[in-house]
Amino acid sequence: MKTIIYAHRGASKLAPENTMPAFELAYKMGAEGIETDVQLTKDNVPVLIHDENVRRTTNGTGFLLDYTLAELKQLDAGSWFSDQYRGTSIPTLHEFLQWVQDKHIKINLELKNNIIDYKDLEKIVYDHLEAFNLLDRTVISSFNSASIHQVGLIDESVTTGFLTSQKIKDLIDFAKDQGARGLHIKYRMLNPSIVKEAHLNNLYVAVYTVNRPIQLRRCFRLSCDAIFTDVPNIAKQTRDML
Ligand code: G3P
Ligand code: CA
Repeated sequence: MKTIIYAHRGASKLAPENTMPAFELAYKMGAEGIETDVQLTKDNVPVLIHDENVRRTTNGTGFLLDYTLAELKQLDAGSWFSDQYRGTSIPTLHEFLQWVQDKHIKINLELKNNIIDYKDLEKIVYDHLEAFNLLDRTVISSFNSASIHQVGLIDESVTTGFLTSQKIKDLIDFAKDQGARGLHIKYRMLNPSIVKEAHLNNLYVAVYTVNRPIQLRRCFRLSCDAIFTDVPNIAKQTRDML
């Protein structure tokens, strides 16, 4: 099976992460999936942003959860990256799903609730996916294992991935106990035995964030099921040359 190439926060090396231009570029480059991060505004609207604080990727300051959607939409999420993207706003999950609906591309929604435990985030995201009829090509992932478990309680047919950046004891059993279908591991955790063990246990393996050709080749050769990359164009070229 071919390793699926997910654009990490969109084509985030080439356009401002988690914005519509970054998603559009990833799609044009032929990424097979898009990974993005979901959090909630003060008025409970799911929006796509990585950090809990808006400072790094917008011209605003402070925590996302203190902004209503209307306030958040006033922020510029593009000019920090380059002047070319001035005027770009933080997308809502609704806007993203509406755009993705007619595209032949997979989705990975990462619930960013390992630092702030947004109430009902799992159900809010699930309801959006269901409304757009996109559950069958979506993976929901989280570093928060309770959240993975919660998604399974809402609908056990949803594909979920347990995210981790460090080896934890009995990782595979732990992920399975939460109901996860896959492991989303940091590149430094990758070795042949974790892939083999996961596959023997019917778990898929997805690796983040892989940008260098030498690392990409290693993921492809180890039969990882998916990778997350900021440079989907380079990932595709590298895979084609194997
Ligand atoms: O989903 C993979 C990866 O995005 C997890 O880490 O910090 O980039 O959200 P982060
Ligand atoms: Ca992420």
